[in-house]
Amino acid sequence: MPGRRSAVAIVSSVLLRSVGHDFRRCGVGVVRLAFSTASTARGRSDPGLATVVAVDLATDGPAIIDVIEASRTDAFRGPSPPAVLAECRSRAGRQVQAWLARHQGLPAGLATLVTSSGRGGVRHSIGWLLVGAGCRRAGVGTALVATAVARARRQGARTVWVETHDAWPGAVAFWEAIGFTIAGRT
Ligand SMILES: CC(C)(COP(=O)(O)OP(=O)(O)OC[C@H]1O[C@@H](n2cnc3c(N)ncnc32)[C@H](O)[C@@H]1OP(=O)(O)O)[C@@H](O)C(=O)NCCC(=O)NCCS
Repeated sequence: MPGRRSAVAIVSSVLLRSVGHDFRRCGVGVVRLAFSTASTARGRSDPGLATVVAVDLATDGPAIIDVIEASRTDAFRGPSPPAVLAECRSRAGRQVQAWLARHQGLPAGLATLVTSSGRGGVRHSIGWLLVGAGCRRAGVGTALVATAVARARRQGARTVWVETHDAWPGAVAFWEAIGFTIAGRT
């Protein structure tokens, strides 16, 4: 990756709490990855397969809950809907933008971009990325992240961060496939 990345780290403890499961206590690895906005996102993405629209929290709550429920598998318990809905709301020092992907007219995926301001400056991170189990490997996740990264780039971000877990099947492989690189493990 080009050397323009900022020295910014996101610790998404909210994410850990909202899945209702303490991965650290269980010894499951948290993986932090970074994407330089100077580079081009990779991975499959067929715009014909998914349309990505900005979330309107006044009307999209049921669609978001549909995506959360559809993302659950035996290997991915998923977050609680109230936690995700709460995390979609901005508050002082933490601006949240969210997008829904629709596939064949139905809610297929959700992504959030969190822009937080603190002593370390402005940080951009992907808060949640969820794709319905029946819609995977069709470019939905790639399309959602491309939208979030494009927004972050327009906001001046040099780096977009994400935290994920070794325990989530395919998650690290997905982020690496679309151009994120591992920045650390805890
Ligand atoms: C991870 C996740 C978001 C991927 O979404 P997706 O829509 O299936 O991803 P895409 O179709 O855009 O995949 C792009 C590329 O990523 C890689 N990839 C995606 N899922 C993968 C998996 N399970 N195993 C290995 N590689 C994978 C592939 O290279 C893929 O391209 P290909 O299908 O042509 O081989 C989805 O599986 C999901 O919601 N999982 C549960 C929640 C989760 O883990 N979220 C991320 C937490 S931060």
